[in-house]
Amino acid sequence: MKQKPCYILGIESSCDETAASILNHNKVLSNCITNQEIHQQYGGVVPELASRAHQINIIPVVKHALDEAKINIKQIDAIACTQGPGLLGSLLVGNSFAKSLSMGLKIPLITVNHMHAHLLVHFIDDKNIKLPSFPFIGVNVSGGHTQIIIVKDYFDLEIIGKTLDDAIGEAFDKCGKTIGLTYPCGPIIDNLSKHGNPKKFKFPIPNVDGINLSYSGMKTSFVNFIKKEKDNDSKFISKNLNDICSSIQFSLIKNITNKIELAVEKTKIKSVALGGGVSGNSYLRGFLFEKEKKEKWKVFVPPMNYTTDNAAMIGLVGYLKYKKNYFSNLNHVVKSKMEF
Ligand code: KG4
Ligand code: ZN
Repeated sequence: MKQKPCYILGIESSCDETAASILNHNKVLSNCITNQEIHQQYGGVVPELASRAHQINIIPVVKHALDEAKINIKQIDAIACTQGPGLLGSLLVGNSFAKSLSMGLKIPLITVNHMHAHLLVHFIDDKNIKLPSFPFIGVNVSGGHTQIIIVKDYFDLEIIGKTLDDAIGEAFDKCGKTIGLTYPCGPIIDNLSKHGNPKKFKFPIPNVDGINLSYSGMKTSFVNFIKKEKDNDSKFISKNLNDICSSIQFSLIKNITNKIELAVEKTKIKSVALGGGVSGNSYLRGFLFEKEKKEKWKVFVPPMNYTTDNAAMIGLVGYLKYKKNYFSNLNHVVKSKMEF
C-alpha cells in the first residue's frame, strides 16, 4: 500500500544562509539556499547585516522551495525551524516566520537544534547517503562548534569532547583572513593545499587532556608566524601561498583527527560520522577513508551539499520529531547557545 505523504517544511536561519526545504517523510523534495554574499567584504559574518538579509530572503526562499517541490503550502503537515545555536537576530527572523505560518496554517511547529541536525543529516533518504547504525561517534566540525559525540539514538546524544575555545571552522577562517583570503576561507585553503607541501611549515598542536581540544593558540601562533615572515619578506605570502595553506590545514585537521582516534580507542565504537561545514574538507575525509581501508572503521561523510548549512537537515530532524509528537508550544525563544 502506498504510504500517506508527510510533508515537512524546514527553515534554517542561524547564521548567514537563509534556507528552506521540503521533505516528504525523510526524502528531500527541494533544498533551497540563499547565501549572503554581503559578508565577504567584511571578512566574516556581520550579525546586523545577516538579520536584515534574512528578512529580505525568507519569503522568496520558502516560495522557491515549495515551487521546486511542486507542493502547495496547504499540503504542509508541519514546520521545523532552527531554534539555535546561532546569531539571535538571524534566528528570530526564521522563528518568527515559522511561528506565524504555523498559526496561520494551524499546523505543528517543531524546533530543531542546528548541531543535532548537522549530525542527523545521515538519515536523509538519498542514494548518496550511507545510513549509520547506532551507536556511532558523531564529529561536528563547523564555523561555531567542534564536538565529539556518542550518538546512541536519534534523541540520545552524549558530548564526550569539545573545543575549550574557538571552533575549527573559525580557525580556518581566521588563518585565511590573515593571508588575505575571502570568507569563508576553509574551502579556499582546502583547494590551495592540494598544490602545497603540508610539512613545509610547522605549527604546534596543543596538548589538551582527554577528548577536548583547543584552537585559539593555533590561530595566534599562525598570525604571529605570518607577521614575522612578512617583516622579513613582504612577498612571503604570495611566494609560499600553497605551502602555507597546506601546512596550516595539516595541523588544524591533525588536532581533530588525534581526538577522533582517541574517542574510537576509548569508546571502542569504530563507526564515525562527520557533520558541519568542515566535514567537506578533503584532508579530513582522506584521513577517515584511510581508517576505513586499513583499520575497518565505518565512515560516514555527508555529500558536499549537506556539509554546510542547509534546511534539509532541519526538515529531517523535524520529521523525526514529528513522528514522536515532539512539538513546540508557540512561546519558545531562540537560543544563541544550546545543548542537546
Ligand atoms: O556548518 P557551517 O556551514 O556553518 C556553521 O554552522 O558554522 O560551517 C561553516 C564553516 C566555515 O568556517 C567554513 O570556512 C568551513 O565550514 N568550511 C571548510 C570547508 N568547507 C567549509 N573548512 C575546511 N575545509 C573545507 N573544505
Ligand atoms: Zn552549521
